[in-house]
Amino acid sequence: VCQNPYDLWLQYDKIEDKTLLDSYKKQVSNVYLNLNSPTGDVIKEEIEKSFKGLLHIEPKFDNKTPNLIISTLNKLDPSLKKKLSKTSNINDEGYVIQHISEKGESKIILSAKTEKGLLYGVFNFIKQIQLHKDLSKLTIVDSPKIQKRVLNHWDNLDRSVERGYAGFSIWDWYLLPELIKQEYIDYARANASIGINGTVLTNVNSNALVLSPRYIQKLKALANVFRPYGIQVYLTARFSAPIETGDLETADPLNAEVKQWWKDKAEEIYTEIPDFGGFLVKANSEGQPGPNNYGRSHVDGANMLAEAVAPYDGIIMWRAFVYSEEKPEDRAKQAYSEFKPFDGKFKDNVLVQVKNGAIDFQPREPFHPLFGAMPDTPLMMEFQITQEYLGGMSHLVFLPKLFEEVLEEDTYTQGKGSTVGKIIDGQLSNKKLTGMAGVANIGTAKNWTGHQFGQANWYGFGRLAWNPETSAETIAKDWLKMTFSNNAEFVDPMSKLLLDSREAVVNYMTPLGLHHIMAAGHHQGPGPWVKDMPRPDWTSVYYHKADENGIGFDRTSSGSNALDQYASEIQEKYSDPATTPDKYLLWFHHLPWNYKMKSGKTLWYEITAHYQKGVEQVEDMQKTWQKMQKYVDPQVFKETNMLLDIQLKEAKQWRNACLLYFQQFSKMDLPDLIPEIT
Ligand code: GCU
Repeated sequence: VCQNPYDLWLQYDKIEDKTLLDSYKKQVSNVYLNLNSPTGDVIKEEIEKSFKGLLHIEPKFDNKTPNLIISTLNKLDPSLKKKLSKTSNINDEGYVIQHISEKGESKIILSAKTEKGLLYGVFNFIKQIQLHKDLSKLTIVDSPKIQKRVLNHWDNLDRSVERGYAGFSIWDWYLLPELIKQEYIDYARANASIGINGTVLTNVNSNALVLSPRYIQKLKALANVFRPYGIQVYLTARFSAPIETGDLETADPLNAEVKQWWKDKAEEIYTEIPDFGGFLVKANSEGQPGPNNYGRSHVDGANMLAEAVAPYDGIIMWRAFVYSEEKPEDRAKQAYSEFKPFDGKFKDNVLVQVKNGAIDFQPREPFHPLFGAMPDTPLMMEFQITQEYLGGMSHLVFLPKLFEEVLEEDTYTQGKGSTVGKIIDGQLSNKKLTGMAGVANIGTAKNWTGHQFGQANWYGFGRLAWNPETSAETIAKDWLKMTFSNNAEFVDPMSKLLLDSREAVVNYMTPLGLHHIMAAGHHQGPGPWVKDMPRPDWTSVYYHKADENGIGFDRTSSGSNALDQYASEIQEKYSDPATTPDKYLLWFHHLPWNYKMKSGKTLWYEITAHYQKGVEQVEDMQKTWQKMQKYVDPQVFKETNMLLDIQLKEAKQWRNACLLYFQQFSKMDLPDLIPEIT
């Protein structure tokens, strides 16, 4: 086994099964490819690379008697085109891969409306080989369900990465635009392979310097690298940039000079980068400047920027992550209170970007109440791939399970079945712009993500952004097979490990609806005792509210009534602790320690049992991993072992710290299932 972690899921090791190998070699011995473009070159290179690796053949590109035909639909021989099923169903980024028989000869046709569609199709075709699929049965008609599939890099210009655990930023601003690092190309290739089509290069806590002419040249160099891979670049826009650059004295969005400043800036950028994607904006949030500084609203700010980029088909991704210590309202309610009244008021090229939950990327949160509440506004999902609150790079946590849970939640806002996924992909919105963002976990680490298994989260984000209905299980299995091995003795236990890993982290960090009880500032490790912070809503005690009477945040009508922001079906169910799912219990209710749970046990007992279970789940992960040595690269095996040791140590720290802390209020004994802790 010699996987190279740098190559991510694009491992092209030779197929060992000789029968399979021989049949593949026969089926794709001769490739028709007739594209004269940078994307065409990328496609050709990928075919060459994968066939050389997986099949040990140099593909022939002899256009006379091909058995693998890669062509856009408009150039495809009409007799072949006729045989393709359902091509009308694909959109501009979609593709068809189909095995057909013509005059007794078998052929595989890969076709799309655009070259970008072909590129996605080619990666999927290669994946079929990586997954050892039977090519003679292929009929794949696929298109992305979401338009803007975007990574958000929280990367600073000094190359530090906010909440980044995989080294420094891969963008070497100092050496750009002259030095084009191979990583930029490999990054684009990896993203294209999972359908990601945009990247915001800079931190949401933004620096206006990136909008200066010098940086635009650097940005242009990256955009040129990414373009053949179908990836657009975006920047974060600091709202006060007109002032910080020294040009103006105000950044008031209704001021004519300010409007013109942004229009000129947009023109300047688009002159250099005609396919620039647009801006992501964090405004009036956690101290960032914004329209509120001038008594203006989020709509005023977003629409002003939207106008500036509209002539170039640019978009504005305006974040709804807003909360203010000046407001007495429960932090979980504030974004809804502030944004819902603006439904239908944003310009057509604005996406409101909403985090999956109302607090902040916790191991588990109920879905954000804004989903479903703004049918006349396109809402973009923001997931966090980097593990800010989930153990940084040292914990193995398979996030697609978390993402899947959110996307499958029913908002009921347009009747039963109004899932978050359907709101995000536009099925339930009266607007047609759609998007999903993932806060990247990528850095200069040799394997990109620090923890080898962080790669699965990048991969999984891409798959769900393409199709939010993809199951976490499919993602886990595909990733394991592509990265390591198709052997069922590896894939079956390891996919179980991945799929269970998310619940494990919830159990040992924040079971039963607890949230935001991490250590202050860095958010790594337990900190339920955190109470002296610059803002009350940055403490832990604000969220768990533990005292001698009980624990949990009452968000029903007797408390903050955040529940009121959800549809009546959810309100009915969650207003009573007896019908609230255990996983959200302490999110919505403050309950006495001896509250009788569905299990018949006390709340205190269940809290302790969940913490203990989380620890045991990590022990199980270790046991499974021990059996996988022969399927993985020795270095990856060793390193993952050491990381799992850290994870177990930290899971125990979480259990011990939280139980000892909460016990001073519960004043109840630790049940026998908990080992002696100090
Ligand atoms: C979290 C995170 C910050 C980040 C913020 C955001 O609060 O801790 O580092 O800037 O989210 O999403 O804007």
